Amino acid sequence: MEATATVHDQVRTYYGETLTTSADLKTSACCSEESVPDHHKPILSLLPDEVLRTFYGCGSPLPPALDGCTVLDLGCGTGRDAFVAAALAGPAGRVIGVDMTEAQIEVAQRHEAAVAESLGFSAPTTSFRLGTIEDLAAAGIEDASVDVVISNCVLNLAPDKEAVFREITRVLKPGGELYFSDVFADRRLSAEVQGDPVLVGECLGGAMYGEDFRRLMARLGWADVRTVSQRPIVVEDAALADKLGNASFTSRTIRAFKLPDLIEDRCEDYGQVAIYRGGLVGQRHAFRLDDHHLFEKDRPMLVCGNSAAMVQATRYGAYFEVIGDRSTHFGLFDCEPAPESVEADRGTGCC
Ligand SMILES: C[S@@+](CC[C@H](N)C(=O)[O-])C[C@H]1O[C@@H](n2cnc3c(N)ncnc32)[C@H](O)[C@@H]1O
Repeated sequence: MEATATVHDQVRTYYGETLTTSADLKTSACCSEESVPDHHKPILSLLPDEVLRTFYGCGSPLPPALDGCTVLDLGCGTGRDAFVAAALAGPAGRVIGVDMTEAQIEVAQRHEAAVAESLGFSAPTTSFRLGTIEDLAAAGIEDASVDVVISNCVLNLAPDKEAVFREITRVLKPGGELYFSDVFADRRLSAEVQGDPVLVGECLGGAMYGEDFRRLMARLGWADVRTVSQRPIVVEDAALADKLGNASFTSRTIRAFKLPDLIEDRCEDYGQVAIYRGGLVGQRHAFRLDDHHLFEKDRPMLVCGNSAAMVQATRYGAYFEVIGDRSTHFGLFDCEPAPESVEADRGTGCC
């Protein structure tokens, strides 16, 4: 408990006092260079400069089909993603942002009425709450009350990651989606790296080893967690790079669905076919489920049982036709990410 409080204090100081804009960051870890989807650009143009200047995300974790959804942004900072989510969710949607740093939440709260007005809403649909993401109940988030949980470069900063993912599991509705961007390490990091306040603040020291993340999720009932995209992180600061030694880091966007009765720990073949019928905003010609499933509009694709469930038993079901059920099993399904999927997303530092 004491160790958790210490990390929380260090992170609060980093984001509440040390950094004033994203230009103050020392690495490209908490600095998104992922291209902004075209349909987000007009929304971003409506947001206040102060919110845009203090964006510290490492990706663009806003999935499609948010209309009317209740969205929860973990570690919302000054609210950039939460405001974009509010625009995408429309006047019938709700967006809750939780952050433990008062200085961050204060900025988001101060701008929410003006942003709602710019979006043409009669009242704000956002609610920014001070709290830790390890204890969402304390922030008033009820069981099975959220359609989509998003988060941008935050979960690495949480000292008790199991508590965070347990809370995510609790608050998501059945069929709900977890969609987040974060920093991952290619190995378990030394205690020295994990205890360095600058490396932690820069979203590197607390980065999870990908295989440990998979194990943690499996323990909590998330048997098939998909990587949507990833890019390498460049640590240009020589002193920080030296402390990190041979460890390397990627920023990944991750997607998983709360479908514990349907998702199996391996991809199984039931002979099912899924067809994306179009209609998702920003996905006119194709929908990318993950780094090895790009559904072209109207093109039938043989899928495993898990992928079929992801596009049928969730809010994406309205945009897909799935042929076949699980009545006949044909064995294991060959379902692997393409080896070039990491290469396709290569980038360089931007801060
Ligand atoms: C790298 S910034 C990202 C902020 C925002 N998502 C964005 O994209 O601009 C990390 C944010 O997470 C918040 N944070 C870190 N650990 C947290 C925790 N355990 N509970 C709540 N907020 C946390 C920090 O206060 C900070 O605002």
